[in-house]
Amino acid sequence: MSLIKSGLILVGFGAAAVGGGIYFGAIHPGADEPHSAVVFKLIETARDRAIAVRAHDIVVPTLGDDAQVRSGAGNYAAMCTTCHLAPGMAATELSQGLYPAPPALTELGVPDPARAFWVIKHGIKASGMPSWGKSMSDEYIWNMVAFLQKMPELSPEQYQALVASSGGHDHGGGESMPHDDAMPGMAGMGSGDHHDGGAAMDHDDAGTAPHDHDRPMSADHDTPMSADHDDAGSAPHTHDAPAPAAHDDAGAPPHDHDAPAPPAHDDAGAPAHDH
Ligand code: HEC
Repeated sequence: MSLIKSGLILVGFGAAAVGGGIYFGAIHPGADEPHSAVVFKLIETARDRAIAVRAHDIVVPTLGDDAQVRSGAGNYAAMCTTCHLAPGMAATELSQGLYPAPPALTELGVPDPARAFWVIKHGIKASGMPSWGKSMSDEYIWNMVAFLQKMPELSPEQYQALVASSGGHDHGGGESMPHDDAMPGMAGMGSGDHHDGGAAMDHDDAGTAPHDHDRPMSADHDTPMSADHDDAGSAPHTHDAPAPAAHDDAGAPPHDHDAPAPPAHDDAGAPAHDH
């Protein structure tokens, strides 16, 4: 048999094995089921090489002046902590539920600033790490990297003070509404949000003032609502996205889930808040 022929047969067997593996669902798709060591290593190596190749030519600017670090801190607090946490912050549903897990940047920092810049700008496919370059210019991304280099040295108090002294969520356009009252830097920007802080942002409207879900606010509050969204006992409000199956309205007063939401929005008696 010629070499080409046996090569082709081998390739055929390989393709059949991969095809069979896919057909029979060999790779578990659930985020609660870790990959086997071999598959994990394969994916990790492919990702690391792919990032390294792309980050290779990035020229790292001078990082670390106070203004940069402050700006990075304000944006980090607003955009990244639900997944990556911050000094003194307890685990969240996202930090625990995502697979691959978001790295603990509070401890690891960013040893390779070019790599961190590339990842923040472009995100990582199918991992939960978004591409922030769509709304943030390079300058602000570098500010974030400058802050990330400092973060492992910060105590919770120093971190809070830094965020409070920053301009909050501010990167020259494209910001969405901050939605985490736990961060002092956000005070006054998202006031009246009904989440009363706490790292694990469980979403339970029971007893909250009327509010409305018809504009995307942040990662933890987008429509459609998460499965554990529980309206029991909440005041009338509207949802303009299809409610998920697990949505539990038991005991809620009549309210309306049709899309689009009717403009009627009842703020009567609500504490001052900001749409
Ligand atoms: C929705 C969750 C989520 C948010 C929000 C998020 N990340 Fe990530 N991030 C991840 C995940 C998951 C990974 C790991 C991806 C992987 O290992 O393939 C990651 C990886 C990273 C890495 C490590 C890259 C490396 O070297 O391997 C950095 C740095 C990072 N994120 C920075 C940020 C910054 C800065 C923000 C805010 C602007 C942010 N992330 C917001 C989920 C998130």
